[in-house]
Amino acid sequence: MYLLLFLICFIGNSWFSPLFVNAASTILFVGTYTGDGANDSKGIYAFSLDNTTSTLTPLGLAVAAPNPSYVLLHPTHKYLYAANEETNGRISAFKIDTSQPGRLTYINQQSSGGAGPCYLSINRAGGHIFVANYNDGTVAALPIDGSDGSLKTYSGFDQHVGGSVDPDRQRSAHAHCILPDKIEQNLLSADLGADKIFVYRFFPNNGSLLRINAVSTARAGDGPRHLIFNSNEKFVYIANELKSTVTVYSYFPSLRPIQIISTLPSDFTSPSYVAELLLHPISEKFLYISNRGHDSIAVFSVNQSTGILAPLQYISVQGQNPRNFNITPDGKYLIVANQNSNNLVVFSIDPATGILTATGSTAQVSKPTCIKYLVQ
Ligand SMILES: *[C@@H]1O[C@H](CO)[C@@H](O)[C@H](O)[C@H]1NC(C)=O
Ligand SMILES: *[C@@H]1O[C@H](CO)[C@@H](O)[C@H](O)[C@H]1NC(C)=O
Ligand SMILES: *[C@@H]1O[C@H](CO)[C@@H](O)[C@H](O)[C@H]1NC(C)=O
Ligand SMILES: *[C@@H]1O[C@H](CO)[C@@H](O)[C@H](O)[C@H]1NC(C)=O
Repeated sequence: MYLLLFLICFIGNSWFSPLFVNAASTILFVGTYTGDGANDSKGIYAFSLDNTTSTLTPLGLAVAAPNPSYVLLHPTHKYLYAANEETNGRISAFKIDTSQPGRLTYINQQSSGGAGPCYLSINRAGGHIFVANYNDGTVAALPIDGSDGSLKTYSGFDQHVGGSVDPDRQRSAHAHCILPDKIEQNLLSADLGADKIFVYRFFPNNGSLLRINAVSTARAGDGPRHLIFNSNEKFVYIANELKSTVTVYSYFPSLRPIQIISTLPSDFTSPSYVAELLLHPISEKFLYISNRGHDSIAVFSVNQSTGILAPLQYISVQGQNPRNFNITPDGKYLIVANQNSNNLVVFSIDPATGILTATGSTAQVSKPTCIKYLVQ
């Protein structure tokens, strides 16, 4: 018996290891805007990424859902949550099928507490989901039932108030993201309409959100959309949608801007709006941000002691309106979701220089808006 186990382990680790490596695949779940036309998206789609050839293989519709524009994996990788970006905002819970790769099974849904939910985050314990509702500028926290991944009625809620200088986009508050820091006591929520970062205290015992501050952005008209922390949380990077800039903030003892930098080459003057931003997940030496209009990814080097950014590269996304992109957890590939050209485009990342190179690998999907990876 022991000999047999030994043999299986031995074979598994050496002779047959290529088989086992191929079996370890990365699945992409892709959120979309849906429609009724024959070619319109019907929900959340799945693809598998071959990490040696960078080929994307379509696995089809993971599950039908109305406008699942933002998707989020539970830290256990057992469940996926989607924001149904509709006037009557909802969040849907799905179980990740372990027998059929790229399939999701509906569990339940709950109100997102507002209109136009566009962003989700989760605490590391996996007990609560946080949602930003763009249309009416509200945020909410929803408890997760740990026994089956289902969502409960929201336990925390806040209405952002404010507006700013842009007559079209900033007449009222528009919450665009909400993200807990590592200590998970505080959350930051960027509001594009109010030009403010709202700061919350979160109480996991009762799931409530208490607003403790609202910090104005560095410049009127910034339109803050998404924000990220570096891992030691000395710095916060905020993508300003309306100005195509990143503002670097120090985080402690309070948010303080230390740099504002354009995401566009200086000779580009046509309209453009930033969308997603991410640090390189392994080194954090590089920051990536998408430009909708210039239709590019801008790459910056990050000085890790000062937080300061310097431009390295602008590369075409080979499509239109790069609403979202994501970097594989191993830091080797960056895949862009081009919402208006209906394609996913795979870039490889040089780990030493941060520079992106198009791999030539692409896939079609209607109005992709969010990519999340499940590494199996
Ligand atoms: C749907 O896609 C097919 C294949 O690309 C194309 O021939 C057809 O015109 C499209 N239909 C619509 C309504 O866009
Ligand atoms: C592909 O993924 C496997 C399993 O995670 C890993 O062992 C291998 O190094 C990866 N190969 C490349 C080229 O990234
Ligand atoms: C939630 O719990 C915290 C900490 O015990 C308490 O201060 C707060 O008042 C509670 N909030 C609500 C809405 O019950
Ligand atoms: C980071 O910035 C500091 C202060 O300007 C400088 O001394 C240091 O050389 C920089 N580090 C890198 C890697 O550029």
